[in-house]
Amino acid sequence: MSKILITGGAGFIGSHACVEFINAGFPIVVLDNLSNSKEESIRRIEKITGKTVTFYKADMRDAAAVRRIFEEQQIDAVVHFAGFKAVGESVAKPLDYYENNIGGTFVLLQIMREYGCKTIVFSSSATVYGMHNPIPYVEDMPTSATNPYGYTKVMIEQILHDICISDPEFRAVALRYFNPIGAHKSGLIGEDPNGIPNNLLPYIGQVAVGKLQQLSIFGNDYDTPDGTGVRDYIHVLDLAKGHVSALKYAKEHAGFMPINLGTGHGISVLEMVHAYEKACGKPISYRIADRRPGDISANYANASRAKELLNWQAEETLETMCEDSWRFMQQNPNGL
Ligand code: NAD
Ligand code: UD1
Repeated sequence: MSKILITGGAGFIGSHACVEFINAGFPIVVLDNLSNSKEESIRRIEKITGKTVTFYKADMRDAAAVRRIFEEQQIDAVVHFAGFKAVGESVAKPLDYYENNIGGTFVLLQIMREYGCKTIVFSSSATVYGMHNPIPYVEDMPTSATNPYGYTKVMIEQILHDICISDPEFRAVALRYFNPIGAHKSGLIGEDPNGIPNNLLPYIGQVAVGKLQQLSIFGNDYDTPDGTGVRDYIHVLDLAKGHVSALKYAKEHAGFMPINLGTGHGISVLEMVHAYEKACGKPISYRIADRRPGDISANYANASRAKELLNWQAEETLETMCEDSWRFMQQNPNGL
């Protein structure tokens, strides 16, 4: 039976997608080098679904290891999450980011070509809209980047686009995620960052659980209703389901298609803090700090293409995003 290769399937978004693919009846194979995740997340996917997961601890840059997977498993599509994702780190270590994200994707695409595998769903990001597009972001706006991480997403989208032009049978969906948060309802899998979190939700979660003392809110003088930054936060479960719909779409439609996965609504940092306080039942200590360099005031998706092409839309609420995140934090205060 043909299978789906999920790269980065032990990570935050990939692990939730594994659960949704399994629940939707797709046989999956996971490749992850565990550089930013733990094998425990594979065990937890198995616990949630009651199914055994075929897992290869391998690096996508290792052509022999990737080839072995295609040799041993009948892979007919790839859902490609693997990559480094920390913006600040990408500025400090650009070569590592280009090498891992782009180099790894090259290896994967070359081996897909060797084995005649022509379907890929790729984890892109709203970061490809750069700094200068008006909101809400629509897929046909020009893409650009402000840091090496963002450039890897812009470039990989371009590579996929070019492959689709060269091969009329190739199909690539680039899912541009907005801000994924939340966790599985079981509390067994969720976001488990190494070190001090850079992103808002894991930071708030660690303040709530007592691991960090105080949240710094990066600026309250933005041109937004309460002055704090506005983002389109999307529940990782909704996001995961979007991948199942995107794969079904890709199987039926050749060519390159970028699709936003967001709710279409913006939420401010202060709104998020208050929603989390409600979910965890205690105050979140915060202070107002300087703006973070490189941040924009507000972004959110125009989510109509996903609705039209994938028949997908976000179903979870701000409340459930915070409640599910909090459940995961409580059950796993020290990560997985
Ligand atoms: P994550 O770090 O939790 O997951 C990525 C996984 O890829 C990790 O398990 C890591 O071990 C693995 N990996 C990295 N390099 C690898 C390599 N060379 N070979 C094999 N495995 C490798 O990150 P995530 O939040 O789940 O993000 C998944 C994807 O979505 C990434 O491509 C990321 O850039 C993209 N994305 C994430 C966000 C976000 O806010 N989390 C937003 C937009 C886009
Ligand atoms: C960041 C990245 C983006 C990446 C995304 C997901 C930057 C500039 N952008 O997006 O490229 O795709 O993560 O990984 O790093 N905030 C605080 N205090 C904090 C943390 C965040 O006030 O401790 C604020 C930010 O200023 C922003 C909002 O919370 O207004 C969300 O921040 P974050 O979670 O880091 O996501 P993005 O900045 O949207």
